[in-house]
Amino acid sequence: MNLDRCKLINLPKIVDPRGNLTFIEGGRHVPFDIKRVFYLYDVPGGADRGGHALKKCHQFLIAMSGSFDIILYDGKEKQRIHLNRSYNGLHIPPMIWREMDNFSSGSVCLALASSTYSPEDYYRDYNEYLKALATSQPSK
Ligand code: TYD
Repeated sequence: MNLDRCKLINLPKIVDPRGNLTFIEGGRHVPFDIKRVFYLYDVPGGADRGGHALKKCHQFLIAMSGSFDIILYDGKEKQRIHLNRSYNGLHIPPMIWREMDNFSSGSVCLALASSTYSPEDYYRDYNEYLKALATSQPSK
């Protein structure tokens, strides 16, 4: 990963001939307490999701089934991450712009979040996000 604030995290995997098992404990495997869980499913081919940054909320995304790409931007670097394992997750801290595309058929994206849903926590306008970054990170 190039964007140093975002982390790909390997989750525990209990391998079993009856089927594998992965578990996640808030504050241990993800670096925040989990206040909300939501998931994206039935995503039609070619659809894009995301297109926002969060002011305070941390999120942790997992490809529970199938695969998709997450495009991250932190104001300096842009990176495309392909998630395709149910035992890997991506921690996205606040103030990271993210977009999602390339969803495989039948894919499911599980999201764990550090706060309940609040529309006020969103930057949905890219220019507004860039402006907020510029005021919070004075140029050197
Ligand atoms: P949105 O954040 O636009 O989805 P994405 O960024 O993945 O494309 O959310 C879509 C709609 O769902 C929007 O009307 C807000 C609503 N929503 C909730 O009510 N609660 C939630 O926890 C989330 C994530 C979205």
